[in-house]
Amino acid sequence: MKIVNVVGARPNFMKVAPIMEAYRRAPELRPMLVHTGQHYDERMSDLFFRELGMPKPDVNLEVGSGSHAKQTADIMVRFEPVMLEHKPDAVLVVGDVNSTIACGMVAVKLGIKLIHVEAGLRSGDRSMPEEINRLLTDSISDLLFCTERSGMENLAREGVSPQRCHMVGNCMVDTLLKNIARARQSDVLKRLELDERSYVVVTLHRPSNVDDPAALARLLDVFEVVQKDFRIVFPVHPRTRQRLGQDGLKQRVDAMGNLMLLEPAGYLDFVRLCEASRLVLTDSGGIQEETTIMRVPCITLRDNTERPVTCEIGTNQLVGNDPQRVLGAYRKVLSGEAGHGSVPPLWDGRAAERIVEIVRRGRF
Ligand code: UD1
Repeated sequence: MKIVNVVGARPNFMKVAPIMEAYRRAPELRPMLVHTGQHYDERMSDLFFRELGMPKPDVNLEVGSGSHAKQTADIMVRFEPVMLEHKPDAVLVVGDVNSTIACGMVAVKLGIKLIHVEAGLRSGDRSMPEEINRLLTDSISDLLFCTERSGMENLAREGVSPQRCHMVGNCMVDTLLKNIARARQSDVLKRLELDERSYVVVTLHRPSNVDDPAALARLLDVFEVVQKDFRIVFPVHPRTRQRLGQDGLKQRVDAMGNLMLLEPAGYLDFVRLCEASRLVLTDSGGIQEETTIMRVPCITLRDNTERPVTCEIGTNQLVGNDPQRVLGAYRKVLSGEAGHGSVPPLWDGRAAERIVEIVRRGRF
């Protein structure tokens, strides 16, 4: 069985890496790797391939950035001839980025089976582009792999046949557990002159936080308070870098002596930075999961999460971007009242193995 595996944006790489590795133990499966080129900067893409030991993509569609419509359409137009040339039996997509739905749609219209890894997650917020990508991809997938129970429940509620849905655990966690010892060898703390637990990590890139200057300004209110207690280590996504340069915001950022803006971090440095931090403030999806595994308190700067298990079982608090609520959650972590948690079921480093085992049975 020939399977095309799709990656496009940064959070896809750590999900597909363990699946590519698991194929090695299933010689009857012939995997191919296609990179859409949605993310293309060295520090958003190639660095991750090297650090995660991923094979070079067989094909790179080199689509680059654009509006949602343009990016999605460009991926579709460039992916279709690759499918016609290689005629795979299945296409495997991960997560919820534009590459996920674009390649998924091309596959099913050509009669190719579609496999979705990280299916069923729902934030309930249709203003998030990722939520639209999740709903659409799941509705056309033949085989759906879930990371948490809420995913299975959402799919059942939406009428997806239970035979197609499998709870397998979390591929991002597979990658984290595999690489944590290597991450501990990183000298990033030394390079940045940081001591363990003496700093807070921040990441921000959601349009709802960074595209609205008022929302971004509210988060700067938070950072102004936190940086009096801790250094803030902030690897900045390219989208956010553009927004922080705006009038009124730049002066405030420059005035914060304890706020360190960094280039996007590589995987190993980032894991090390998070693991040794006092807490993490983020609007990312995956980081809510990674902090849960590392038992680091996480405060999520969003009004909803598609990963509720990180709040129910893990270390996450969901607070939005209102400064008083964020600082309330922050104080709860410092007082020891919040930020504890344990590991969700099946987040054990073997999700990719389970996925490949089910795919090789080929009953879908
Ligand atoms: C995308 C995903 C988001 C994911 C995030 C992780 C969608 C809808 N969104 O958002 O779910 O959490 O990736 O990073 O697919 N840019 C660069 N270099 C790059 C890539 C992007 O400079 O290598 C800049 C460009 O100005 C671009 C902007 O970042 O316009 C946004 O990139 P894009 O891929 O559109 O979305 P992300 O915000 O990265």
